[in-house]
Amino acid sequence: MKYLLISLVSLAVASQFVWSLKDSNINDGDCDGTGRIVYKESMNITWAFADYTIETRDICTPADNTVIKCIQIKDLRNDGTNGRAQITEGGPGYECVSIKLKSQFNRGMEFNITVWSNNNTLIV
Ligand SMILES: *[C@@H]1O[C@H](CO)[C@@H](O)[C@H](O)[C@H]1NC(C)=O
Ligand SMILES: *[C@@H]1O[C@H](CO)[C@@H](O)[C@H](O)[C@H]1NC(C)=O
Ligand SMILES: *[C@@H]1O[C@H](CO)[C@@H](O)[C@H](O)[C@H]1NC(C)=O
Repeated sequence: MKYLLISLVSLAVASQFVWSLKDSNINDGDCDGTGRIVYKESMNITWAFADYTIETRDICTPADNTVIKCIQIKDLRNDGTNGRAQITEGGPGYECVSIKLKSQFNRGMEFNITVWSNNNTLIV
């Protein structure tokens, strides 16, 4: 029991250390609200018991000679259970971006993901 408590405490300390708040939100590129939204997702994943939740997305602009202008990832949690977001490949100026999202240990995650291309043609 003593050892279980010690390992639980060190786990909690370790997760505090790894999950700094600054990595939760991403605003990458020219995020002035212009351009066309080519991807939008509101992600809400419930917690996984004794595990991390990891989600990846590979997002590309449509094949119309445009590139990604802005990538915005908003962590909707503000209660200390924020996840972590990372661009793993591509990004602004590229046709595609790969995103990795990871929850805290034993927690879910709530993120809004929006990607804009530099094509100003409105699609209605
Ligand atoms: C995510 O789902 C939970 C459980 O259904 C709900 O309480 C919470 O409000 C949802 N979050 C968002 C941002 O919709
Ligand atoms: C912008 O998108 C429209 C509709 O998909 C397309 O017809 C047009 O060629 C694109 N503009 C550029 C500069 O690629
Ligand atoms: C997240 O996306 C949902 C669905 O589009 C929207 O209703 C909500 O306002 C967004 N939240 C934030 C903080 O942008």
